[in-house]
Amino acid sequence: MPTATSPTASGPGRRASVPPTVAACGSTWTATHAAALTHCYDFAGIKQLVDVGGGHGELLLAVLQAHPGMHGVLFDLPNVIEGAHRRLAASTVSQRCATVAGDFFGGVPAGGDAYVLSWILHDWDDASAVRILGNCREVLPANGRLLVIEMILPAPGDTRTPTSADITRLVRKADLDMLVVTGGRERTLAEYDELFAKADLQTSRIVALDSLPWTLIEVIPR
Ligand SMILES: C[S@@+](CC[C@H](N)C(=O)[O-])C[C@H]1O[C@@H](n2cnc3c(N)ncnc32)[C@H](O)[C@@H]1O
Repeated sequence: MPTATSPTASGPGRRASVPPTVAACGSTWTATHAAALTHCYDFAGIKQLVDVGGGHGELLLAVLQAHPGMHGVLFDLPNVIEGAHRRLAASTVSQRCATVAGDFFGGVPAGGDAYVLSWILHDWDDASAVRILGNCREVLPANGRLLVIEMILPAPGDTRTPTSADITRLVRKADLDMLVVTGGRERTLAEYDELFAKADLQTSRIVALDSLPWTLIEVIPR
């Protein structure tokens, strides 16, 4: 299993050959929800944040810049980390941010008191998503938090996420896109709850980001 201090080789995950450009997927969107995250979520008490599949570090950079006492670990595939490392090394948080290369199907770095999965689970079918969650669960301390950021499919009667006709249309379209492009899917909160339970995790609270349609689900050990 990779650790925050020792980079590992990539495992045999389905995306092991994903080109670096994929990591930059929607970087404008990432910048938008990264900015929202820094002021919508209370990071108090988090000393080390691990961004799992964090791409080029847009989100982690924004959070570390807003929280000068926090350290971070960016974890992604080796070809992605190569580019991210150069970027972070040249940033104002270089002394507080490590990069680790690896495969989240093989394990994720230990040592964080909070982990981020932003725009990851929707890429994958249920079995793969549970495996990623299970690997996060394995390293999550008893009082640790996992921050899942996704677009949520509205469900009749579920009032936990803000919704509108525009958001519903957008997330339904994203759902089809994910199915065609990655074999993944967008999910309702109830469907996320089912995945979390299978990985011995549970939803602690829902935080609406003001960068709609993004929602943060705070997840804790069961
Ligand atoms: C949709 S992008 C999300 C990037 C970032 N978290 C964000 O919010 O913009 C998915 C990320 O997962 C990474 N990824 C895909 N398969 C992976 C694997 N097996 N292990 C680690 N990272 C992986 C990709 O390289 C990419 O950076």
